[in-house]
Amino acid sequence: MFSYRIILLSLLCLWLSTKGGNSTSPLFRYCFNHENYTDPSPYATNLNQLFNLLYTKVPPHGFGLASTGQPQDQVNGLALCRGDVNTTSCMSCVNEASKKLLERCPYKKGAIIWYDYCLLKYSNENFFGEIDEKNKFYMVNVYDVEGDAASFNGKVSELLSNLSYKASESSVLYASGELKFDDEEEGSKTVYGLAQCTGDLVGSSCKKCLDDAVAEIPDCCDGKQGGRVVGGSCYVRYELYPIVESS
Ligand SMILES: *[C@@H]1O[C@H](CO)[C@@H](O)[C@H](O)[C@H]1NC(C)=O
Ligand SMILES: *[C@@H]1O[C@H](CO)[C@@H](O)[C@H](O)[C@H]1NC(C)=O
Ligand SMILES: *[C@@H]1O[C@H](CO)[C@@H](O)[C@H](O)[C@H]1NC(C)=O
Ligand SMILES: *[C@@H]1O[C@H](CO)[C@@H](O)[C@H](O)[C@H]1NC(C)=O
Repeated sequence: MFSYRIILLSLLCLWLSTKGGNSTSPLFRYCFNHENYTDPSPYATNLNQLFNLLYTKVPPHGFGLASTGQPQDQVNGLALCRGDVNTTSCMSCVNEASKKLLERCPYKKGAIIWYDYCLLKYSNENFFGEIDEKNKFYMVNVYDVEGDAASFNGKVSELLSNLSYKASESSVLYASGELKFDDEEEGSKTVYGLAQCTGDLVGSSCKKCLDDAVAEIPDCCDGKQGGRVVGGSCYVRYELYPIVESS
């Protein structure tokens, strides 16, 4: 099971790295609950109502969660926009995400989708406050870093570990930053990073989620110019160019 998961993540990683994408195309999605609902049904109505709620609740703050319907047909969901993304872009991302989930995970009782600007997740189970260990993928910048790769990996790890701490201590569970350093062969370089958790996590869970993600960077992105470990509750990313609007 474990090795199967690693192989799956590696394949995914290769596929995503060749796929490219932009802020309006989804990075990835999982239809993680294969149980079907029918339409029309209370579940379909509640899901639609949930999407409408998230669309109004999320964009001004960048995060929101909601539950709709009675216990037997309840739908729980959340959406998160990247910390630097403005209300307008957040709104269009959440809107696009809810449409795309219905299209890509039709009639599924639980699903999640990620974009550069946002993520959206819903489930018949109440998952709020728990770290999502199941839904995760890697993305990697295809280019190898030039110069001393081992030293570069160390810088990436230092930057992302600090951002993990900073994010978990911040009220919005988000941090971005950069680290300038000198490579003996290549001269001065700057690596940019970001770390963010969904707002339903407490600080200590956020820290754990991010630290686990940082620990997986060597698995996906050893010696690469950029990479991401993206989960349902948190994600980290680094690149040799600025990632966010203002860091
Ligand atoms: C982003 O991708 C979408 C879907 O593939 C495409 O329609 C759109 O033109 C692209 N936008 C940019 C700015 O490349
Ligand atoms: C849900 O529906 C799909 C498509 O009709 C079907 O292939 C699948 O087996 C169903 N899943 C369950 C758990 O019944
Ligand atoms: C919001 O961000 C987008 C993408 O960076 C930008 O194009 C747009 O002008 C911004 N809108 C506002 C109102 O700042
Ligand atoms: C990370 O934190 C350590 C300990 O607080 C500090 O010494 C180091 O300068 C920080 N590095 C970055 C890149 O922020």
